[in-house]
Amino acid sequence: MKNIVVLVSGGGTNLQALIDSQARGEIKGGSISCVISSKEGAYALERAKNAGIPTVVIPRKDYADKLSYSRAILEELERQKADLIVLAGFMIILDECVTKAYPYRIINVHPALIPSFCGEGYYGLKVHEKALEYGVKVSGATVHFVNEQADAGAVILQHPVAVRNDDTPETLQRRIMEKAEWKILPRAVSLFCEDKITVKDGKAYVENTDEE
Ligand code: GAR
Repeated sequence: MKNIVVLVSGGGTNLQALIDSQARGEIKGGSISCVISSKEGAYALERAKNAGIPTVVIPRKDYADKLSYSRAILEELERQKADLIVLAGFMIILDECVTKAYPYRIINVHPALIPSFCGEGYYGLKVHEKALEYGVKVSGATVHFVNEQADAGAVILQHPVAVRNDDTPETLQRRIMEKAEWKILPRAVSLFCEDKITVKDGKAYVENTDEE
């Protein structure tokens, strides 16, 4: 069984999707062993506690810079013997000391169809504000491996969601979570734990790509 460590910063609905998926037996070959939060009081911590999952808080505000924070995260990941690290609404870009230590073993869920509306400064509600500002008719979510550049690692799964004329950033965010993120994140985690993702020439390939 692979040790899955989930990193969170906020509400934790993606963490909840993982917990529910695990409870239904849909995460094969792995188990969530720890949740690490960058914020004290994040509701995601309650979700983990309710599911009996150990939690660790490493507050970003306690560290002077990105490097010292990333080193603290790396130490904890090593202590937890993480096989897979899942960024589920984790709002901090980590230094390459973490990404280089876990090549193709960190995955992130991003609330847009990469390469649209991604990179530094595109997180949470801002992503949906930008999509509506541009006027795209389709957005969605992407699960990808994390490398040294923000939102630039190999894409694992994507799922489109239609944009409605009356969407607000909040309604679009919610629909993308429900219809895309909460489905493709647990699916990608299971695929990873089942060794069903292969990487060739910097691209990720999934054995079974017939996603709904
Ligand atoms: C989710 O929409 C996630 O994709 C996004 O923040 C939200 C967190 O919600 N993540 C990013 O923007 C990272 N770049 P959650 O805490 O309820 O899972």
